[in-house]
Amino acid sequence: MRKTVYWIEGDGIGPEVWNAARPVIDEAVTAEYDGERSLEWVELLAGEKALAAGETPLPEATLTALRDAELAMKGPLGTPVGSGIRSLNVALRRTLDLYACIRPIRHFGGLETPVKHPERVNMIVFRENTEDVYAGIEFAAQTPEARKLVAFLRDEMNVQIAESAAVGLKPMTEAGSKRLVRRALRYALDQKLPSLTLVHKGNIMKYTEGAFRQWGYDLAAQEFGDRTCTEKDPAAGRLIIKDRIADAMFQEALLRPEQYSVLATPNLNGDYLSDALAAQVGGLGLAPGVNMSDTLAFFEATHGTAPTIAGQDKANPGSLLLCGALLLEHIGWHGAAARIRNAVNAVIAARTVTVDLAGQLPGSRAVGCREFGELVGAAL
Ligand code: NAI
Repeated sequence: MRKTVYWIEGDGIGPEVWNAARPVIDEAVTAEYDGERSLEWVELLAGEKALAAGETPLPEATLTALRDAELAMKGPLGTPVGSGIRSLNVALRRTLDLYACIRPIRHFGGLETPVKHPERVNMIVFRENTEDVYAGIEFAAQTPEARKLVAFLRDEMNVQIAESAAVGLKPMTEAGSKRLVRRALRYALDQKLPSLTLVHKGNIMKYTEGAFRQWGYDLAAQEFGDRTCTEKDPAAGRLIIKDRIADAMFQEALLRPEQYSVLATPNLNGDYLSDALAAQVGGLGLAPGVNMSDTLAFFEATHGTAPTIAGQDKANPGSLLLCGALLLEHIGWHGAAARIRNAVNAVIAARTVTVDLAGQLPGSRAVGCREFGELVGAAL
């Protein structure tokens, strides 16, 4: 079996992390399936590489290929100055309707962290990626648009609001919330995980965040009623659906992380929570991620282009390596995925790490990007 993966190299440290990571991903597949399965890598241009080829930063050919693709993976993309594009990542997300941003969070091999028991954290955040205050609908204070909206709210809707206010909107739909929760639920059930927690701020924002919570419970009952239960009404062998108010969830993540598994969140809560959890396990630089539409799983290194260390063989390829593991898991090639994860774990546990992690690992030896990749390859 052969699966096509479209890949975008990315800017800055993109080329070197790919050079270190891609051979390892292929080796893991070969080691596990002995030639019976393989990945076919097809490069697509974006960012500086596209500009250098005389294209726009996000060429139409790249978008066309991605619209029909099932699997893709990208390195970090900078934002080309003066290109007229605010962010290539946002443009990709919008154009391809990548509505679910998924980040698994777990601790790796002895890394020092700010908490005593990072190994108790094993969560996966499903964050809605298209709605909420991040929809980008906002108006600067004192502009004609803001004034018009404020006047409408005061005069027609009887809302108390300062005339000088900047205003942003928080659109959240039933369809948008449910498709995110559906995806998280399917994952939790497929992986036989114990619980799914809806994280919301519905005590304050009743009709947006509160509705997210309710839509989540409704969806679980309507579509997965025979396989789920609630915390109030538990049933053995079923996935427990819980909900937590976002601020309490941050406390829970620190105090009782072992009680949480899959988290489903609106956009803003999920943004904060996934970075806070990654920091809790000491792994911001190692965090893999994937953005999904109904047809495409688009894996991405979660770090940026790290311009100050680009081209110096100092970058950590761990995020891309773990993206590879996530991709293999997504297509059901669990054996190869486990090989990568275990090998990364073993190399970190042996205290050979890139400089960014060396500070978190007393007695470690700092190695370059390429050597780190080779060590992981050898540990497969
Ligand atoms: P950054 O993630 O590039 O760098 C933050 C810090 O982490 C720097 O000290 C950097 O050297 C270090 N770092 C990042 N990745 C590393 C790695 N793999 N190994 C070792 N050290 C690493 O974030 P920054 O500086 O805010 O952004 C730089 C550029 O990257 C900007 O143009 C930004 O727009 C873009 N960016 C792209 C992202 C993406 O494509 N997903 C995500 C974040 C930023």
